[in-house]
Amino acid sequence: MPPRIKKIVLAYSGGLDTSVILKWLQDKYDAEVITFSANLGQEEELTSLPERARAAGAAKVYIEDLQEEFVNDYVFPALKANALYESKYNLATALGRPLIAKRLVEIAREEGADAIAHGCTGKGNDQVRIELSALALAPEIKVLAPIRTWEMKSREEEIEYAREHNLDITVNKEKIYSIDRNLWGVSIECGALEDPTNAPPDDAYVITQNPVLAPDNAEEVELDFTRGIPTALNGQELDGVSLIKKLSALAGKHGIGRVDLVENRLVGIKSREIYEAPAATVLYLAHRALEELTLDRETCHFKEMLITKYSELVYNGYWFSPLREALDAFFAKTQEHVSGKVQLKLYKGNCRITSRFSDHSLYQKGLATYDSSDVFDHRLAEGFIKIWGLPLKVMGERAQKD
Ligand code: ARG
Repeated sequence: MPPRIKKIVLAYSGGLDTSVILKWLQDKYDAEVITFSANLGQEEELTSLPERARAAGAAKVYIEDLQEEFVNDYVFPALKANALYESKYNLATALGRPLIAKRLVEIAREEGADAIAHGCTGKGNDQVRIELSALALAPEIKVLAPIRTWEMKSREEEIEYAREHNLDITVNKEKIYSIDRNLWGVSIECGALEDPTNAPPDDAYVITQNPVLAPDNAEEVELDFTRGIPTALNGQELDGVSLIKKLSALAGKHGIGRVDLVENRLVGIKSREIYEAPAATVLYLAHRALEELTLDRETCHFKEMLITKYSELVYNGYWFSPLREALDAFFAKTQEHVSGKVQLKLYKGNCRITSRFSDHSLYQKGLATYDSSDVFDHRLAEGFIKIWGLPLKVMGERAQKD
């Protein structure tokens, strides 16, 4: 017989799944359940959670604002890397999971709990991210994923269970979409989106305006960066969390950052998901514009090759891995000169760079110009081309002989 599970820390959002899990774990294991809820900028009301968790039998309730840690230790590293999964998805959900898992196991240790629990399904990536993070940080702690094992097969059955056990659940009449939100973006699936031939219905979007209905006037935005990190918006210095939130509202109003992707999940399924990443879209563009100006060619091109690998690591749950950490150290080193100012225009779903400036720019007008101030020595090009093309010339001569 495996040792009895006496105390469990549950990642609790207050939604239907985790509310039912909270009760079910107590019944099933006769265990004490502690709930943990993180604020990652999902803009959901968290104040009613303690009362509801306690009413459902929680022994203790943790609610923590992790926004700052999320931005500084997860979002900004991904921005420095220009990380995008399958060239489109900014990994908002994927970046949040390791942080949630980290706090889950830390609390489990402080509380002397034998297990952590989550409400992820058996078909998704998030179970993998949470459990791999837990394995890396606290291999001794058990992980319970009731949704994978319990007898309930549908939302209706869960609602039935909640009724039987007098759980306070706010069942929104027909919850069409599955939505995961934090301050870096929104991930939306299910409903009409499950058919990839369907255009996303307008009501699926949460934080972006339909570009067609966006303001008729373009809006200028100015961003300051210091070593790859945005530090000011329109001249106003802001901490990371505030800057992202402000920019998100601004760009969302202009319909920027909508993404529609049929993606390859780690568990082998192709799934269609739409994303909203207004702040990330603008910040990626601006950040890249500064890198264009300040990074040397070799670093630029090498960094580009690493995007796919880095994004896969994050997507596939390998956040707490030596390779992800080593890549972040590399990316951090590349950002030494990525400081300066970028101006952009937001207009009906589009965002364009209009100006970039850096004190560390490698752009030299004297070298680039075609006017009389040109300082480039044109004569040197002749010798350069002879040497650079020498292998091709030798092969050309061989082909002629053959
Ligand atoms: N596909 C995204 C990922 O794997 C988001 C997953 C959660 N999506 C959701 N709509 N609940 O990171």
